[in-house]
Amino acid sequence: MSLQGQRILLGISGGIAAYKSAELARLLSKAGAEVQVVMTPGAQAFITPLTFQALTGRPARTELLDEDAEQGMGHIELARWATLVLLAPATASLLARMRAGMADDLLTTVLLASQAPVAIAPAMNQAMWAHAATQANVQGLTELYDPQWIGPDSGDQACGDFGAGRMSEPAAIVQALQERFAEKKSAWAGRRVVVTAGPTREAIDPVRYLSNHSSGRMGFALAEAAARQGAQVVLISGPVQLATPPGVERIDVESAQDMWQAAQTAAPKADLFIGAAAVADYRVENPSDQKQKKQQGKNEWQLTLVQNPDIIDGVSRLKDRPKQVVGFAAETQDVERYAWDKLARKNLDWIVANDVSRTDIGFNSDDNEVTVFGRQNERYDIGRQPKSVLADALLDVFARGFPED
Ligand code: C5P
Repeated sequence: MSLQGQRILLGISGGIAAYKSAELARLLSKAGAEVQVVMTPGAQAFITPLTFQALTGRPARTELLDEDAEQGMGHIELARWATLVLLAPATASLLARMRAGMADDLLTTVLLASQAPVAIAPAMNQAMWAHAATQANVQGLTELYDPQWIGPDSGDQACGDFGAGRMSEPAAIVQALQERFAEKKSAWAGRRVVVTAGPTREAIDPVRYLSNHSSGRMGFALAEAAARQGAQVVLISGPVQLATPPGVERIDVESAQDMWQAAQTAAPKADLFIGAAAVADYRVENPSDQKQKKQQGKNEWQLTLVQNPDIIDGVSRLKDRPKQVVGFAAETQDVERYAWDKLARKNLDWIVANDVSRTDIGFNSDDNEVTVFGRQNERYDIGRQPKSVLADALLDVFARGFPED
């Protein structure tokens, strides 16, 4: 089983078990996860950040107020980046500070800022683990985070005691995570998902075209997330500068008409069709076979445009219509009204609306903030986050549309 595509933020606090976290980081990477280590000051007394940099390929983060590091992935981005936060070892002090909602170092700050699920592998002396204060914190954290508790194990302790408090072995921690993701996979396992992404190019002549600023990132993130969760994914992509996500079948197209053809072939009987492409509404009526020359004295050049087929509309009216069809509504005004209108007009199950008049999110940005409207009058506001993280949240919403299973 693999952790392929998971982005695991490995939080290490200051206990002797921190030496085992080196092996843990290695095993997580080996299982396919991207691992970003965050260490508390106490952890660094037991093991160095350099060890983790060598094992994960990413510098371990240690400081909250680190100008250089914040210029790269700041602490809020770090929090949003993670698909899982794993705390191993989690000391009694870390559990207490988390329970109190403190943000007095980078790790506790990231924990407050992150919406990712949390897994905790506690490690401490057996008397400390058994203490009523720690047990109250465990109880409180269960209510606050609903975390996956991994261990602690019983046995000989570094301090000479015997009892419950040892951190679970790295291999057992990795296995517990793999089982968790295997369970989660089921909503999408074996489902057929088709995604359109990116812009289209409408030829004017062999060297010129009409297009738009779509980067394709949202569609690619959705394709990647669906594949990671076990779906069989076909990604129909316009011209973009993005690598094909692991396990995804990619079909490259240029024009809206090409995209239409590819969608008509791939969409029938799919479980989910997502139209994330920014399809050109119009194309040049008669593109020239030869490069158009500039003509002296001719100050104007008029092109006649004709309407392109609406790909998602065509898909949603297929005889073998996908079980769910999802559109995007990129609007600059009246976002909600246009979204509801589009949902009905194009016969969609869900529409993901965002405000592209904002420059901090949307089109060419890594982040997006959206509202999803559903056919049964559902409404979900999903706050600003990286498109990769948002993709998982969107799939969780769409998974609610398969009530029969
Ligand atoms: O009407 P509008 O272009 O705003 O609708 C956006 C939604 O419709 C997106 O999901 C987009 O991928 C899809 N669309 C399409 N074919 C078109 C135009 C838009 O599939 N020709």
